[in-house]
Amino acid sequence: MAYSVPKLTDWSADSLDKAVAALRAALAEETKSVKTEADWKALRDRWMARKNGVLTQINDLWLKAAPKDAKREVGRRVNEIKSFVEEAIANAESLKSGVVPAPEIDITLPGNRRKLGAEHPVIKTMNEIVGVFRNLGYSVEEGPEIETDYYNFEALNFPPNHPARDTQDTLVIANQQNKPLRDRLLLRTHTSPVQIRTMEKQRPPVRVVCPGKVHRNDAPDATHSPIFHQVEGLAVDTNITFCDLKGTLDHAMKALFGSSVKTRFYPSFFPFTEPSADVQISCIFCGGKGQRDGGPCRNCKASGWIELLGCGMVDPNVFGFVDYDAKKVSGFAFGMGVERIAILKYGVDDIQLFFNGDVRFLEQFG
Ligand code: PHE
Repeated sequence: MAYSVPKLTDWSADSLDKAVAALRAALAEETKSVKTEADWKALRDRWMARKNGVLTQINDLWLKAAPKDAKREVGRRVNEIKSFVEEAIANAESLKSGVVPAPEIDITLPGNRRKLGAEHPVIKTMNEIVGVFRNLGYSVEEGPEIETDYYNFEALNFPPNHPARDTQDTLVIANQQNKPLRDRLLLRTHTSPVQIRTMEKQRPPVRVVCPGKVHRNDAPDATHSPIFHQVEGLAVDTNITFCDLKGTLDHAMKALFGSSVKTRFYPSFFPFTEPSADVQISCIFCGGKGQRDGGPCRNCKASGWIELLGCGMVDPNVFGFVDYDAKKVSGFAFGMGVERIAILKYGVDDIQLFFNGDVRFLEQFG
């Protein structure tokens, strides 16, 4: 039922408030249904026409009719009503169809270009290395970055207090003095613990690569970072020999750096491999000649070789920790630093560039 202005008999504040509320509700209802120009005009006239509009009626039926002592209260409310009715009618004008202008779209303007993200060069290189070994039938294993002393050191044949631990100092989690040493937590210094974890859950044959982030107490400079990445590999089977190790890594280096690269194996030491070796590749900057642009090659210090990774035959003691029979199986392991390989592949001269997050550097790898 359409709203009509009631005559008032009760002039108390309470009853006035009720009358105002009823009017407000009616107004809200009526403004909602405005759809066309004609609707809006009708609404405006019904409420604001000088002759017999709702506002005029209110003036007559409420204000003029009010007894003297209620005039002030009624007057205040009538003024209020006037202003909110005017406002509501003005607002309702925008509800008419066609009044809100459609936003102008200039289809000849260029679109908003969204920058495409790029794979981080370290991740890109890590995936490439992993891909080389995947193609050889290796599977991928990952493990925790926070490791126990047992997996990071002891099971890899670094006995407690062994000096080889000094070369892999790291951050340890605080307040663990009351735990046995083997259970104490630290940030892993290499991904070799993943090899132990893999051998614990799987019998031979094993072919795995373990990519991931590692931590060491190294002061940052152009070639060192306390956080870096490794890809380590492990192959265990009957009759695995040093020849298999050499052939596998020679292939991997050629796959990563080009088929003309040569490899050379140099005696080295790791507690978990025996014998152990460092692998060097012929310098990719001077082609192994040691000379470039009429002077000594800076990249290989004129030697023609660049040292790239560590490797060796798995030490029988390590097999003892995982219950493999060292009389029946043998294996090789290797480990390489991802940043080091990325530096060589892309000609980067400072390892810190990988971690500073400068977009100008990173977007070159997109
Ligand atoms: N874990 C060694 C390191 O981080 C690398 C390595 C792995 C060496 C496997 C030999 C065999 O230095």
